[in-house]
Amino acid sequence: MDTTHDFYAMPRIGDIAPDFEAVTTKGKIKFSDFAKGKWIVMFSHPADFTPVCTTEMSGFAVRKEEFDALNTELMGLSIDSIHSHLAWVNNVREKTGVYFDFPIIADIDMKVSKLYGMLQPNESETAAVRAVFFIDPKKKIRLIMYYPLNVGRNMDEILRVLEALQVSDKHKVAMPLNWKAGDKVIVPPPKTLDELEARLKDDSIEKVDFYLAKRDLELA
Ligand code: BEZ
Repeated sequence: MDTTHDFYAMPRIGDIAPDFEAVTTKGKIKFSDFAKGKWIVMFSHPADFTPVCTTEMSGFAVRKEEFDALNTELMGLSIDSIHSHLAWVNNVREKTGVYFDFPIIADIDMKVSKLYGMLQPNESETAAVRAVFFIDPKKKIRLIMYYPLNVGRNMDEILRVLEALQVSDKHKVAMPLNWKAGDKVIVPPPKTLDELEARLKDDSIEKVDFYLAKRDLELA
């Protein structure tokens, strides 16, 4: 399949999330009006009533309170009908007691999947890959994950990067390898020679050299 066509253009980090209207398990949604003032984690799954997808959706559902605590709304999507979504949500609740209490887009015409590069035809021409879009309150895309059909995502990592983005914004710091809440953060490197001199003399921070320094968050 020709994947160079614009049809399969993919949004990028820093772009404003493309707007759309869609039918979901919570009713019709216009994305630009959804979750105003909040972060959004929008994720696709390949198909309802499939095993890996059921574990992932259940993972989002059971940890929904952690997303709530991070001022974040969840939104799922697959190329399935609304009837399929309703039956699956109901079935999982009956079988396991887990309830998918967030909107799931019924993207039967693939409109949203194509808009967000979730349909990657050399992986599948009919099912969305496992994408996760982290979208900030200004509707800007801040981080994107794409996983193939056969590998489930990691909920700890999804929550970790969401919190990392928020802490980074709030404190104007960067996050090192494997950062998690409570760990030291990276202070921005100096931008002038004066700042470099000051950094070299600053003994209050954990410093490898002027360009790599960490400190506790409350001091950042
Ligand atoms: C699954 O969720 O188990 C699955 C869905 C589509 C393709 C492969 C696996």
